[in-house]
Amino acid sequence: MTKKTAGNPQAISQTLVPEYIRNLKVYQAGKPIDELTREKGLTRVSKLASNENPLGPSPYAIREMTNALWDIHRYPDMHAYALKTQLSELYNLKPENIALGNGSEGIMAYIARAFLSPGSEVLTSENTFIGFYILARSVGAQLNLVPLTKDYRYDVEALAKSINEKTKIIYIANPNNPTGTYITKEEFDHLMEYVPDHVLVLLDEAYFEYAEEYPDYPNSMDYRYDNVITLRTFSKAYGLSGIRVGYGFGHEDLITNLNKVKLPFEPNLIAQRGAVGALKDRPHLERTIQTNTKLLKECENFLKAKDFEPIKSITNFITIKTGSEEASNHLFQALLDEGVIIRPLKANEMANFVRISIGTEEEMDHFYEAMEKVLPTFNDKFARVSL
Ligand SMILES: Cc1ncc(COP(=O)(O)O)c(C=O)c1O
Repeated sequence: MTKKTAGNPQAISQTLVPEYIRNLKVYQAGKPIDELTREKGLTRVSKLASNENPLGPSPYAIREMTNALWDIHRYPDMHAYALKTQLSELYNLKPENIALGNGSEGIMAYIARAFLSPGSEVLTSENTFIGFYILARSVGAQLNLVPLTKDYRYDVEALAKSINEKTKIIYIANPNNPTGTYITKEEFDHLMEYVPDHVLVLLDEAYFEYAEEYPDYPNSMDYRYDNVITLRTFSKAYGLSGIRVGYGFGHEDLITNLNKVKLPFEPNLIAQRGAVGALKDRPHLERTIQTNTKLLKECENFLKAKDFEPIKSITNFITIKTGSEEASNHLFQALLDEGVIIRPLKANEMANFVRISIGTEEEMDHFYEAMEKVLPTFNDKFARVSL
C-alpha cells in the first residue's frame, strides 16, 4: 500500500484561515544588532530603531532574574502576587485592577480577544502604533482611522466626531509612536465628553515615564473613568524589552474579563521577578529619564542644525521628514553602512519620514559622525523639503 501523500497547506490556509487573518502583514521589527554585524562584518553597531532603554536594565532587575533562574523548573505564580502587590502599592490600587501580560502588546491581544469580534469597529488615528492595528485586525475588527493634525498630533476633534453606535474601542497612544507627540489634559477631557459609557478607551502609555514631567500631559492615573484601560510597560524606560512584561489598570470587571482569555502563566517567572527588581530601583529610572532628556535635546539641535525639522517629541525617539520614501531608504541604508540602525516609517504609512531612538551618549556620537559622513551625498541627491 502506498503512503498517502503529504497534506495541502495552501488549501488549509485558504479554507481554515479567515480572510481578515490572510490579509494581515507580519510585523516588521527594528533590525537586530546581530543581523547587521553578520551582514556587514561591522564591529561598531548602534541600534537606534526600537525605542529601547540604551542604559540597559537596572542591576536590581538583573539580580532578581539571575536568582529566578534557580526556580525555572517551577511554573510562575499565575496571580503574580509579588509584582501586582508592588504595582498596587506604587499606584495605590487594588490588585484586582491590574492586568499583566507579555509586554503591553500581550495585554492588547487579550483586549482584542475579550472585547472585539468580527465586524466590531475600532476608532483610532492614522500613523499610530502598528501593533495595535494588527491585533485589532487579527480578530476581524474594522479600523476607523482619523488622520493626524498638521502638526502630527492625534486629532481629538475628528476622533470625537467619528464615534458612532458601532464603536467599541477607541485606542489612543499617548504619547504617540512614531510621532512622539501627545494629547493634552484639555484635549483628553474634551474627548471624554463625547465618549459613551459603553465604549472602551484604551490609553496606551508605553512612554509615560518620559512624558509625565510635562505639566499638560494627562496622566491617566489622575482620572477616574471606569471605561478606560491604561497600558504601560517595562519595555521602555525600565529597560526590560527582552523579557516582555507589560501592565495595565482598569475597572475590575474589565480586568476580570481580560484574565479569562489570558494565558495563565504570562508573564513568565523570570519576567515577573525582573519587573519586581526594576520597580525597586527608582534611581535607575531617574537616570534613564535625565539622560534621555539631555540627549533628546542634543539630537533635536543636531538635526535642526542639519536643516531637518524634527517633530517635537516628549519620548525617547525623534522623527524627521526626509522628503520621500526613496530619501528615507537612502538615509536608512547609508547609516546602516556606517553601523547605525534607524527606522524608516513606511509600515506606519509615513514613508517620507524616519525615526531615530535616543541611545547612549556614545551611540548618539556614532549617529552624529555617521550623519556627517552620509549627509553630503544625501543632500546632493534629495532636495530638502521642510515640514
Ligand atoms: C505605543 C506603543 N505601545 C506599545 C508598545 C509595545 O510595548 P511592549 O514591549 O510592552 O509590548 C510599543 C512598542 O514600541 C509602543 O511604541
